Parts: sequence; structure tokens; C-alpha cells
Amino acid sequence: MGWIVRLFVLMQLVHVVFCWGKHGHYAVCKIAEGYLTKDAMATVKELLPDYANGELASVCSWPDDIKWYYRWYWTSPLHYVDTPSFKCNYKYGRDCYDSAGRRNNCVTGAIFNYTKQLFSAYQGYNPNLKYNLTEALIFLAHYMADVHQPLHVGFTGDLGGTILKVRWYRKKTNLHHVWDTLIIDTAVKTFYGSDLSTMVRAIQRNITDAWSSDIASWKSCRHHDRVCPNLYAAESVRLACNFAYKNATPGSILEDDYFLSRLPVVEKRLAQGGIRLAAVLNQLLNFEVKIGQSL
Ligand SMILES: *[C@@H]1O[C@H](CO)[C@@H](O)[C@H](O)[C@H]1NC(C)=O
Ligand SMILES: *[C@@H]1O[C@H](CO)[C@@H](O)[C@H](O)[C@H]1NC(C)=O
Ligand SMILES: *[C@@H]1O[C@H](CO)[C@@H](O)[C@H](O)[C@H]1NC(C)=O
Ligand SMILES: [Zn+2]
Repeated sequence: MGWIVRLFVLMQLVHVVFCWGKHGHYAVCKIAEGYLTKDAMATVKELLPDYANGELASVCSWPDDIKWYYRWYWTSPLHYVDTPSFKCNYKYGRDCYDSAGRRNNCVTGAIFNYTKQLFSAYQGYNPNLKYNLTEALIFLAHYMADVHQPLHVGFTGDLGGTILKVRWYRKKTNLHHVWDTLIIDTAVKTFYGSDLSTMVRAIQRNITDAWSSDIASWKSCRHHDRVCPNLYAAESVRLACNFAYKNATPGSILEDDYFLSRLPVVEKRLAQGGIRLAAVLNQLLNFEVKIGQSL
């Protein structure tokens, strides 16, 4: 019996052991905080649990901490979406389902889901109060970051790189973990004086400087959609093919060449995740719009 339970737990978790590490989630939410409007920030603070002390970034890893618990197992497939191996493209209808075949149970489906919940609560025409909006906010913030991690939209065959064994310098690991955690941690140590905030500030400087003319295009979706996770996922799988999987096959030793050429990709994804999260929250939690509609 104990053995069967353990096997069950293993099967549930084998795919979700890794996720943009704590640093990645912190960075995305920290960047987003800097671009929230006053109204959106006020609503975020209202929704956050007390222990967050008004800081969204402090709770953005929460969905990774809880997915181990039985009560939250159902959230595990919501952190990623797998695509057919070597195709390098993504299609919602083809790819967004979990291992039991339930449709919409994937990271892009979850982003649509939680956007809808916040929208119906705050933009008013169909207030749906059965949802816990604190959870909706935190899940949305978390999954917006995950969908920007290229290997969260990786191949089915290697479970998004989680079973693709490589070495990171001398350390044995898997490719997924390299992208969730090791590139960021190595950069923080090597270039940012072991201080994550210094890395976040460097990315913020690029947002106002080198990338400033790209920001509008990062934020915009087709057809005036509020959020476009399908676009973010399509970008991710392309980056997975062109950067993550490239020159990383089972047994590869990834060192300076790989690290230095992939770090800019990671930093830009953190920036895009943050900017886009702020953009969607600004639309959803804009108090003025709510007043306007209720008049
Ligand atoms: C949508 O959110 C509800 C409430 O948290 C949850 O029960 C449901 O499983 C979610 N579905 C997806 C695809 O995120
Ligand atoms: C909403 O969810 C949070 C996190 O799971 C929980 O702490 C809180 O009690 C919930 N609020 C309500 C009203 O159920
Ligand atoms: C800033 O942008 C430049 C040009 O795109 C890029 O080479 C550099 O890696 C970026 N730095 C950070 C911290 O994002
Ligand atoms: Zn995650």
C-alpha cells in the first residue's frame, strides 16, 4: 500500500520537480511591481495575504511550494505545456491537456482561467465571487512567469528537458533545471555580486534603455486581447529549440560557451514576463474602469 502511494506520488511529481526557481519568479514579479499603476498596486495589496507585507514578489513561488501537497496536486500540470518532440511549434488545441487527457489543464489554459476570474470580479459585468481572488492573483503571477521559461514549453519526449541529463560545469543535473535555476544562480554569483536585486536592477535598466522601443510590442496582443499566453508559449518553444536544446544533448557538459550565450535569453524572458504581467494586471485591476462600467 505504502509502495503504491509512493509510486502514485512519484508519477504525479516526476514532471514538476522543477520550475523557474525562486529567483526567476522573484525577478519577474519584482519587475512587474515596478510597472503597476497606482490602482492596480492598491488592489494587489488588498488581495495579498498579510505575510506578503504588500510585496507581490514575496509570494510568487508559492504555487511551486504547494504543488507537493495532496490538496494541490491538481495544480501540477498547470506549470507547463508540452509540445510534440522536435516540432518547435505550439498549438493550444493540440498541446494543452494534462496526462489524463483533460483539456485546458496546462500553463496557457491556467493563464486564461485566472485572467477570466480576475476580470469577472473586477470589471464587473458578471461578478463571479465563488473564486478565491488571492489565489487567482498569485497563480496568474506565477504561471505568467512559467510560460516565459522556454523549457516550460518543451518537448513531450524528454518532459521539457527534465529527463535530459547534462552537466552544468561539474555538477550533474538536467537541462530543465539549468534553465529554471542554474543559469540565473550562476549569473547572480558571477556578475551580480551574489545579489539578486542587482540582477533585477540590471534588467530594469535595459527595460528603460536598450529595450525601451520594444516594450509596446511585448505588451500588445492581437484583437485587443487582454493577455496572449499562446503567443508567449509559441515564443518559448522557439527559444527552446534555438537556445535551450541546441548543443545540449544527453551527456553534454554545459560550460561558459553555453552559459554566456544563453544568459541574455533568460534575462530578456524575465523582463518580458514582468512587463506582460504588469500589463495584464493593470487592465484587470484598474479601479477606474470598474467605476466607469458601473455608472
Ligand atoms: C481554474 O481555476 C479553478 C479555481 O482555482 C480551478 O478549479 C480549475 O482547475 C482551474 N483550471 C485551469 C485550467 O486552470
Ligand atoms: C484564499 O486562498 C488563500 C490561499 O490559499 C487562503 O489562505 C485564504 O484563506 C483563502 N480565502 C478564502 C476567503 O477562502
Ligand atoms: C541588456 O541588453 C543588451 C542588448 O540587448 C544585452 O546584450 C544584455 O545582455 C542585457 N543585459 C541584461 C542584464 O538584461
Ligand atoms: Zn511553476
